[in-house]
Amino acid sequence: MKQLSTRGLEIESVTNKGYRMSEPLILLEKEKILSLLSQKSIAQLDELDVLESIPSTNDYLLDPSKVKSKKTIACLAECQTRGKGRRGRTWVSPFAKNIYLSLLWHFKEDPSALAGLSLAIAISIIEALEMYGITQTLGVKWPNDLYCNDHKLAGILIELSGEVYDTCSAVIGLGLNVYMPKTYQDGISQPFTHLQALSTEKIDRNKIASLLLHGLIQTILVFEREGFEPFRKRWSKYDLTLGKPVSVITAGHTFEGIGRGIDQNGLFLLEDKTGTIKSFSSAEVSIRFNQT
Ligand code: BTN
Repeated sequence: MKQLSTRGLEIESVTNKGYRMSEPLILLEKEKILSLLSQKSIAQLDELDVLESIPSTNDYLLDPSKVKSKKTIACLAECQTRGKGRRGRTWVSPFAKNIYLSLLWHFKEDPSALAGLSLAIAISIIEALEMYGITQTLGVKWPNDLYCNDHKLAGILIELSGEVYDTCSAVIGLGLNVYMPKTYQDGISQPFTHLQALSTEKIDRNKIASLLLHGLIQTILVFEREGFEPFRKRWSKYDLTLGKPVSVITAGHTFEGIGRGIDQNGLFLLEDKTGTIKSFSSAEVSIRFNQT
């Protein structure tokens, strides 16, 4: 049985598609999110859509009519039926548990100018969570996975649209685990955690959503003006692989060595056993444990 009528309504208990909620449920509410959002961020937004269930918030904004409209649109959904992760993976997106947020932004420059954007966005998310009051140490694994105690907390998927060479539109998608039940572990390929495990207070998804949206918008504005440089130092504060033994997996090859941070464009730097520094623009990085 599903009791869902008014946004923001507290619901005692919901049984929906086989999962039971023991906690009261507070839904995302557009007016609440806007009331918590700073005026300078509201001024950048043409539209905020808060939806119940859609295949994917990224796909929703990648719709050609939305891209052509040149509007800056943010979209949140309570549930995604085909949530997308990086590298063709699925992003498990149960109803009213987490944050699934995408932002459609139109850049005046071509895609080559966006190198480092996803790293800047990852930093903005950590800073938004710190602003919310999360005090546990959060970290980033290149290019943009957020972790707490070796467990994944959030991921970012940026998709570009348009064939135009002098401008480009980007959909920046963020999935943040807020109340992800352990029962979903089977569908997720790696250990995960969620915000509620990091706080004794009940997490307010509306407040988190407004802080995240503010962080995304203000980060993009700085990035448009100044590029990646202002974010480079902030990255090293959160870099989980800095000085650690790592494996870097590219199409068809695995490289091993020590993580040496990022370069001025956000490329990953690996020092191999000969002391040579290699840089990577696209790869999976994993920390190697149990070194003997
Ligand atoms: C990753 O694999 O780490 C990236 C996950 C990105 C998931 C988010 S949820 C909101 C947006 N819509 C999607 O379909 N994917 C992104």
